[in-house]
Amino acid sequence: MTEIPDHLLKRSQERRAALDGDAGSTDAAPPVGQAVETVAPAAVAPPVAAAIDVAPEPPKPERPEVTAARHRRKIPIWAIPVLAALPLWAYVYQGTLEPPPAGESDPMVLGGELYATQGCSGCHGADGGGGIGPAFAGVRETWVDPLDQMMWVRLGSAGWPGTTYGNTDKPKKGGMPAYPDLNDQELAQVILYERTEFGGLDPLSEEYALLVEIADGMTTFADAGLGEVSTTVAVDEANLAAG
Ligand code: HEC
Repeated sequence: MTEIPDHLLKRSQERRAALDGDAGSTDAAPPVGQAVETVAPAAVAPPVAAAIDVAPEPPKPERPEVTAARHRRKIPIWAIPVLAALPLWAYVYQGTLEPPPAGESDPMVLGGELYATQGCSGCHGADGGGGIGPAFAGVRETWVDPLDQMMWVRLGSAGWPGTTYGNTDKPKKGGMPAYPDLNDQELAQVILYERTEFGGLDPLSEEYALLVEIADGMTTFADAGLGEVSTTVAVDEANLAAG
């Protein structure tokens, strides 16, 4: 058996004595532990205590209106339908920013009046459903370009070159009168009405905007030029001039 050196034995005995014995030991550990315990609470405790002393007071006497305000909905009930209608309002508002004026000078209104006073409604129906003349539900297929439709109305069946008419080459049976006395603005108004009211033309489309320009006299039929079908069937360009 090897001999344990004296200094190791001594240290071992001291450790045991320290573990077995109470605080009275001569070991270095207890003083360190004490030091940590005494220093830490002294440094941290006072501020914590001070904070706790101040905090608990306010919650007790909260005034009723404060409680109500805290529990109130952030968006009031009445504002919900208002907010829901906002996109519609934006759409309508945007419409008011665009050129077409309302009321008597609205080209759609003027077009509707012409449709009745020029006899269009008598042959094509007040609701565009047809009669002596064809219905207008498919008018934007028959005439893809409104400029071609304008020329057709100005010339009528007899004045339109060839045996067919429109983009769909409809057989010409005759019976559509010519309207040489309608000026560019009136022509654009009544065509705008037919295409929008009966043909479902989108009021936000470029085509609508062009017709409104002519209807308001900002552009002439001659400026806009012949449509493709009119060019193909060789309509005389002289017919672009207002009657
Ligand atoms: C006397 C009856 C009569 C009147 C009035 C009349 N039309 Fe017509 N319209 C016709 C007939 C009939 C045709 C078919 C022509 C053909 O087949 O040659 C026609 C065809 C048309 C077409 C082509 C429609 C398609 O889809 O085939 C348009 C557009 C049109 N008319 C617009 C008008 C407008 C605008 C007015 C008023 C300014 C008007 N018409 C007044 C009888 C009439």
